[in-house]
Amino acid sequence: MTSIADDWGVHEAQFWLRGQAPEAPVSYDPEAGIWCVYGYQEVQHVLANPATFSSNTQRVIPQEMLEGQEDFSEGNLIQMDAPEHKKLRGLISHAFTPKVVADLEPRIAELTGELLDAVDGHRMELVEDLAYPLPVIVIAELLGVPSSDREKFREWGSALMESTQEFSFADPSEDQRQQLQEAMQKVSKLSDYLREHVEDRRRNPREDLITKLVQAEVDGEHLSDDEAVNFSNVLLIAGHITTTMLLGNSILALDTNPEWFARVRADRSMVPRAIEEALRYYSPFAGTARATTAETELGGERIPADALVVTFLGVANRDPKYFTDPDIFDPTRDPNPHLAFGRGAHFCIGAPLARLEGRVALNILLDRFPNLRRDPDRLPKFLPSLSMTGVKELPLVF
Ligand code: HEM
Repeated sequence: MTSIADDWGVHEAQFWLRGQAPEAPVSYDPEAGIWCVYGYQEVQHVLANPATFSSNTQRVIPQEMLEGQEDFSEGNLIQMDAPEHKKLRGLISHAFTPKVVADLEPRIAELTGELLDAVDGHRMELVEDLAYPLPVIVIAELLGVPSSDREKFREWGSALMESTQEFSFADPSEDQRQQLQEAMQKVSKLSDYLREHVEDRRRNPREDLITKLVQAEVDGEHLSDDEAVNFSNVLLIAGHITTTMLLGNSILALDTNPEWFARVRADRSMVPRAIEEALRYYSPFAGTARATTAETELGGERIPADALVVTFLGVANRDPKYFTDPDIFDPTRDPNPHLAFGRGAHFCIGAPLARLEGRVALNILLDRFPNLRRDPDRLPKFLPSLSMTGVKELPLVF
């Protein structure tokens, strides 16, 4: 197998490749100030034991870094623990149902067609032309906010990702603190923007997810405005950049494995499995964070209480102790219990939507451009970050 770093010569990929085959399943990174969990079994253990590995990581982040910032934790499912998490997730599941997602299929197909109609000549840049706009338009339309505001979402969302790129929790530099503060200010602009929509939907209900969220009721309980705003915020940020990566990474994985690209092209029933394998092979959500509530032992290491722990899903998904030939892209892998959408109580709520968008978009791309392949004259660019992994530019020819 050619390694992606050799193939591209892209320096940035080094960061992502760091620890691709780590010797220890768990180790402390003193520079970043985090316990890194790489082994599949160990990641599974962390995600399955929320009493010891809490999602409320704010607790262990140096307080001075949070000073002067708005509190986004209310309604932010990702950072909540039981029993509040269970209650809120139940309420949200009432609005974000499998039917709501399944009904989007024709619109996703239509949008993909329109975006590809706008591609001129025989070249495209997958992220700019399709993989970024498609999920963001879908999530914006689903929530009921104007998709024409998507440049704003990109600005606000990418600031947050970039700020965590090489962050040191042990000893953040002045620059890193400032960058994080600026990113949080942008998130706060997104919250203000969403708050206007939430307040409006209480007065003027519409056929959209924000309305469903403000109306959702379980056992007489409703979402507060803060909860509805913060949840919409998580949906907008978590819901589009990850799916952008899913699309880009799937094409990249197929392109670097031409024999599989040919098979999937010829037999479309393989598309869903190719997407699952791409999720394992290049996992978009690089790591999830947890905070220990007590001293604990994991992978032969003693982790103290109140430590920040990051599970590297993408690395666990290539654990040779768990997957046979993990560095080989094989869409016939069965079963394929990858951890790209997490595990347990916080398993990705948007997984059905991401899978649907991936399947529809990949099929239409293959229908339209039977000879689609990487542009030999322009290198792809990679986004390495503690939170996200994937292509940020993928030039293609057809
Ligand atoms: C949670 C990955 C798409 C919304 C998660 C988690 C992962 C993940 C790993 C678990 C986080 C944790 O345990 O701390 C992904 C990937 C996606 C994707 C790889 C695309 C390929 C989406 C989409 C949406 C979404 C499209 C929304 C429409 C959420 C939400 C949570 C979540 C709300 C929090 C669930 C909870 O804490 O209970 N996602 N996601 N995601 N995801 Fe996704």
